[in-house]
Amino acid sequence: MSYPALAARTAVVTGAASGIGTATARALAANGARVALIARRTERLDALAADITAAGGQALAVTADITDQASVDAAAKAVHDAYGRVDLVVNNAGVMLPNPLADGRIDEWTRMIDTNLTGALRVIRAFTADLTATAADGRTADLVNVSSIASHVLFPDYAVYGATKAAVTQLSAALRTELGPRDVRVSAVEPGLTDTELGDHVDNPALSEQLGGMFSAIPALSAEDIADLVAYTVSRPRHVNLRQSVVLPTRQA
Ligand SMILES: NC(=O)c1ccc[n+]([C@@H]2O[C@H](COP(=O)([O-])OP(=O)(O)OC[C@H]3O[C@@H](n4cnc5c(N)ncnc54)[C@H](OP(=O)(O)O)[C@@H]3O)[C@@H](O)[C@H]2O)c1
Repeated sequence: MSYPALAARTAVVTGAASGIGTATARALAANGARVALIARRTERLDALAADITAAGGQALAVTADITDQASVDAAAKAVHDAYGRVDLVVNNAGVMLPNPLADGRIDEWTRMIDTNLTGALRVIRAFTADLTATAADGRTADLVNVSSIASHVLFPDYAVYGATKAAVTQLSAALRTELGPRDVRVSAVEPGLTDTELGDHVDNPALSEQLGGMFSAIPALSAEDIADLVAYTVSRPRHVNLRQSVVLPTRQA
């Protein structure tokens, strides 16, 4: 879809190395936004930036680990040095590591909380001043947090992932009370089953198989479906906040 309102926006997309982040970066750039691409895999980001540039868009690859404060600080500096103020932040980077709670996988819990929640907060911290300054100038400013249907629907063995996503949805709602009055839109996008690399890090064979079974049983959403929703959300007139969107495959109950 075409969203002319996105021309002249300056965006940051985290988790741009694959899946929803890659598709969102492409969608924003195709509509004229400059896009800073953040993730850990430099070669993926470089390839995406080259693709976007070859298609006539503007993109900047910025390697960063959002669980590391110094890395996020350096990324924010690189973005500001290249592009100046950012007016659109898509907080999308995330990991999903299911296992029975009784297995006590503190390593996975820590990684999910540090990435999905604290990492998102680090990114918010890095760019909120840009968003409020943009809005104060009368221009559109957006913070989009990619949450999940797992913030509402409970899945056995996904307790900690679900808790991090419920926190992202709650954080988005709470932030609206602080940033809405300053004309910064905050949106939570909550996808269901989407075909990406998210399941590749599951280390429990039974749960991997279960996830594979869901993909066999239900035609999943594509990363491009979610990217289109993000692009639609941030291209509304600035007084319209599409604040919480649940987007599921039609066959997902
Ligand atoms: N796929 C689904 O069914 C689904 C459903 C609901 C919600 N979501 C959410 O959608 C978001 C995007 O996931 P996806 O489905 O597109 O999966 P994905 O393909 O695995 O993408 C996750 C992205 O996050 C990046 N990332 C992970 N840890 C990071 C870190 N410490 N620092 C910086 N970047 C990091 C990864 O890049 P690097 O590895 O290069 O860092 C990757 O680009 C996630 O928040 C996920 O929870 C997905």
